Amino acid sequence: MNQYMHLFQGTAFSSKSPKEIQILEDYLFCINTDGMIEKIVAPEDANYQPLLDTYQGTNNFHRLAEGQYFLPGFVDLHVHAPQWAQSGTALDIPLYDWLNTYTFPLESKFSDLDFAKRVYDDVVSTLLANGTTTALYFATVHKEASLLLAEICANKGQRGLVGKVVMDDPEQNPENYRDADTPTALADTEEFIIAVQELAKSTKQGVYPVVTPRFIPSCTDEGLKGLGTLAAKYDTYVQSHCSESDWAHGYVQDRYDKNDAFALYDFGLLRDKSVMAHCNFLDDHDVDLFAQTGTAIAHCPISNTYFANSVIPVAPFHSKGVDIGLGSDLSGGFSPSLFDNIRQAVISSRMLEDGVNPSLPAKDRGVPGSRLTIHEAFYLATAGGGESLSLPIGRIQENYTWDVQIIDTKLPSAKLPIFNENEDLDDVFQKIMYLVRPENIREVWVQGDKVHSR
Ligand code: GUN
Ligand code: FE
Repeated sequence: MNQYMHLFQGTAFSSKSPKEIQILEDYLFCINTDGMIEKIVAPEDANYQPLLDTYQGTNNFHRLAEGQYFLPGFVDLHVHAPQWAQSGTALDIPLYDWLNTYTFPLESKFSDLDFAKRVYDDVVSTLLANGTTTALYFATVHKEASLLLAEICANKGQRGLVGKVVMDDPEQNPENYRDADTPTALADTEEFIIAVQELAKSTKQGVYPVVTPRFIPSCTDEGLKGLGTLAAKYDTYVQSHCSESDWAHGYVQDRYDKNDAFALYDFGLLRDKSVMAHCNFLDDHDVDLFAQTGTAIAHCPISNTYFANSVIPVAPFHSKGVDIGLGSDLSGGFSPSLFDNIRQAVISSRMLEDGVNPSLPAKDRGVPGSRLTIHEAFYLATAGGGESLSLPIGRIQENYTWDVQIIDTKLPSAKLPIFNENEDLDDVFQKIMYLVRPENIREVWVQGDKVHSR
């Protein structure tokens, strides 16, 4: 009977639907050699006790201690890995100036592979320690350093989706930080795709190349068209920034007399495997196009407070069937934690609902129906991210990967305020969402392997 790689026993929280969580109290989780959840067994099931009898006392049996819980690993749909080096700084000016003053000069340094290794090693470890088991990364324009990031994800056990960034327009980008020309940008992207697909063959948890035009303002029409062709040829993921701020949205309208969504679509860049960051200014037609093409949205709530000039209306986008997940947007968002982004998603949505200008009458101040609950924000960080990537991740459910974080609510240095032995488990869940700090995350597992412990 000893057929599973691991047997875990404990209480888990996972999304049942965008609005509801499922609480699996004291269940058994049977993990096979591929790192998948093969079977979930409830305490009342007939094979619960026989399984326990077989595995208890062996090295592959893991029982959570009192006060510990399983959560699905987080799926961060939008991270600029190089920008980790400036996280927490440089948030004082608008997007366009921020890019030119701080961000392009920083990213240009990733031609130096030693520097890239220091930053990339640290950002991947930091995200894992914060419970992020899958991350969709922008690297930089440099092919070698981008490949190094994919290798670091592969070695550290994180499921990494990595893009070599394309910025091929000499008019729009600094001379020391752009692709040499459009043919080079496309050739480097193609070589990068092939190299990451090769790396994926020996990577259990998966590593994926992502076609990555930074955003329309950085790219030529030929570059965008060529990238759409490569995405179709190699059936890759695609990522970019879409209708993020007044300036970025207006730039594309001026250039094409249409919104980002239709411009990207015309270049073949909206596909089922596309994830577009921000998308604050989508109109109804744009949202319909996202739904039709299967394009997902990476909602980046912390970053949006600095650069997006608005709060994204998540609820109406979701109700039209568009997949939405959460992104940290390091370093436009300062925090590597999706717990922090879950909290901000709820807070920002409440401010959108009620409005923020006290000199207006209450009835004119906000946008009714905008609020997200903490349960919905958790869904975005987990199952919503998994659906956005069309991967079996983000849920603790049979036939999903064993990507989990083990949360300790009783850690002496970071105890959660749980004073009742029989605290309602939904209240425990909410306290975890709002109050967990990185030290409460005791272990992180990806595809059945432990990749972090403290
Ligand atoms: N638009 C183009 N590049 C970037 C970036 O690095 N961060 C954000 N937030 N928006 C962008
Ligand atoms: Fe971004």
